[in-house]
Amino acid sequence: MTEPAVPEPPMGLLAELTYRCPLACAYCSNPIEIAAYRDELDTADWQRVVTEAAELGVLQLHLSGGEPLLRRDLADIVATASGLGLYTNLVTSALGLNEKRAAELHDAGLDHVQVSLQADEPTLSDRIAGTPSFERKIAAARTVRDLGWPLTLNVVLHRQNIDRVDRVLAAAEDLGADRIELANTQYYGWAWHNRTALLPSREQLAQAEVTVRAAKERLRGQMEIIYVVPDYYATYPKPCMGGWGARQLVVVPTGDAMPCLAAHELPLPRANVRDGSLRWIWEDSPMFSAFRGTDWMPDPCRSCERRDVDLGGCRCQAFALTGDATRTDPVCHLSPDHHLVESAVEAANADRAGETVSLPLVARPHA
Ligand code: SF4
Ligand code: FES
Repeated sequence: MTEPAVPEPPMGLLAELTYRCPLACAYCSNPIEIAAYRDELDTADWQRVVTEAAELGVLQLHLSGGEPLLRRDLADIVATASGLGLYTNLVTSALGLNEKRAAELHDAGLDHVQVSLQADEPTLSDRIAGTPSFERKIAAARTVRDLGWPLTLNVVLHRQNIDRVDRVLAAAEDLGADRIELANTQYYGWAWHNRTALLPSREQLAQAEVTVRAAKERLRGQMEIIYVVPDYYATYPKPCMGGWGARQLVVVPTGDAMPCLAAHELPLPRANVRDGSLRWIWEDSPMFSAFRGTDWMPDPCRSCERRDVDLGGCRCQAFALTGDATRTDPVCHLSPDHHLVESAVEAANADRAGETVSLPLVARPHA
């Protein structure tokens, strides 16, 4: 697949409104240097970004962070997007989603709410979240249902909670969730820092997969269950974000626009919405052109029959593991760097009796 002269428009915009957050999750993918992201775009900036996104062809706006509810202007941004016909999705810890705030967002036209849960019970959930939060999350999830929104729960799975996936599913059922996303941790930001404490064993994964398969069967037509397998145990990588600059774009709190969540780490020229239009950024900026299509690929991807399927995997993972974003994602079993993933997997499967729930987690700081 060579790069087209003018790329197809993006489907979705992920607006990371702020990296401030009342939680301090150890698997957080936000950048480690959060202090560099305090100069946030203001309301008018975000309304312009959303308007330019709609003009570019974006259909879905995902409002995320950090915790987007910490932005007092969230309803104003939702109202702008909704007025432009965008489908709006709030991705939230749900702390701060009280009845008044929820009603305000509902009136502004918010279409969908996705609430993160860390576990099915307060002790573990609060430990992973780094702050007491479980009971407030459950209350907020019920408010979401009461207002008639579809409810999606989002649970990041890892070594410390994956053994409870049956109970997590039961909690979701009890809350009347329409959908649950069980996504194994991606190792960026704080999660990269905590990889040893988070990477599950093969045995844990095998058990979770049996449980999820049975639940999918039992809950068919009642609750949709999305299960994302961990990259480190896959034979081939996933086409990250549906391909670099192919379907999605991300705008971070300070206005940098990127093809994915973790591209701040890469040595690429920045593209900022304060300096250029979203259309220029999407169609012409060096940031978005860098790994679009397949022309940039080295071998083994260049000559591989799967190059149009997985697009060489994840550039940020390649960079984190090898220091070179142009290399084949080491998750791929054909990658010359695959041993880097194999050694992490071996360590996760070495005898670590008693460590499953006791390995220390380094929590990201509250910001
Ligand atoms: Fe995908 Fe590259 Fe691996 Fe082929 S070599 S399967 S294109 S990551
Ligand atoms: Fe950046 Fe995968 S997270 S390409």
